[in-house]
Amino acid sequence: MKILITGSTGHLGSATIEFLLKKNLATNIVALARNGEKANVLKEKGVEVRFGNYDDYQSMVKACQGIDKMLLISSNEMENRANQHINAINAARETDVKHIIYTSFIRQKDDPNSALWFIAKDHVETEDHLANCGIPYTLFKNGFYMDMITDFIGHNVLETQTIFLPAGEGKVNFALRNEIAEALANVLTSEGHENKSYNIGGETTASFFEIAGYLTEIAGKQINYISPTVEIYKQELAKHNLPEQSIKMVAGFAVAFSENAMDVTSKDFTQLLSRKPTNVKTYLTTIFQK
Ligand SMILES: NC(=O)c1ccc[n+]([C@@H]2O[C@H](COP(=O)([O-])OP(=O)(O)OC[C@H]3O[C@@H](n4cnc5c(N)ncnc54)[C@H](OP(=O)(O)O)[C@@H]3O)[C@@H](O)[C@H]2O)c1
Repeated sequence: MKILITGSTGHLGSATIEFLLKKNLATNIVALARNGEKANVLKEKGVEVRFGNYDDYQSMVKACQGIDKMLLISSNEMENRANQHINAINAARETDVKHIIYTSFIRQKDDPNSALWFIAKDHVETEDHLANCGIPYTLFKNGFYMDMITDFIGHNVLETQTIFLPAGEGKVNFALRNEIAEALANVLTSEGHENKSYNIGGETTASFFEIAGYLTEIAGKQINYISPTVEIYKQELAKHNLPEQSIKMVAGFAVAFSENAMDVTSKDFTQLLSRKPTNVKTYLTTIFQK
């Protein structure tokens, strides 16, 4: 069986490959990379690397030859993302790939009026295409990466003693990227996942107010949470010379958090890992406890 891992030079793809290597599957893995130099480290581990760029349909057709399963990791580019995914899916169909596992995004609903739509839109379009492409597929609707919490609360939050984020009382389902990779490797190497959709996150959700509470316990000193208006937040970020695009992205997520757009709980992740996933408090303890 040959498994094509796209996004193999990124965090999630490379971590998934590590879990497959632990299962002694080096000869079954084919890593898709658009940057050969970045993929050299995979070659050194005995993994076959094939060139492929989502924007270049023929390169995807070539990369998919002889592949049984494809892990399609969503692109990290904001322009033309859905079409990139559609190219990969069509190439898989042309080459008779038997199963596609796609990394999507957790969400309460598909609502163009939701603050999360700027991220969800491409995933919804990709999921629709998958549902109609005729290839059995599995959706990993990933929670918000726990690994990115510090980007929102500030890496020096214990010194500033303040989380400043317009996320209100909104609750978010967080998932640790390495555990998502572990669950992906489990699904890629077991049966019974065809045409299933999994919500990949904890059995509980957490708000940034609760996160401030956890940090207060961990640090043994008060960590405050201030939720300003989104306009004031954007002005503050601009003062720190953050590029316009990044300000839009971070503020967009914060507003989506405040709307509870990712307040979805599930036991799917627990089942795929055969244990409860790491929760936010435990994660923050490993990061911040001296
Ligand atoms: N759930 C969340 O909270 C969350 C947060 C952030 C991102 N995401 C999504 O999850 C995905 C995986 O996360 P990650 O942390 O692994 O992201 P990442 O480290 O940025 O990896 C993205 C991978 O996609 C590859 N890629 C991008 N455009 C491509 C193209 N046109 N053709 C072929 N490959 C392409 C990149 O290749 P290069 O190495 O050559 O750039 C890289 O290997 C992201 O791409 C994004 O869609 C989810």
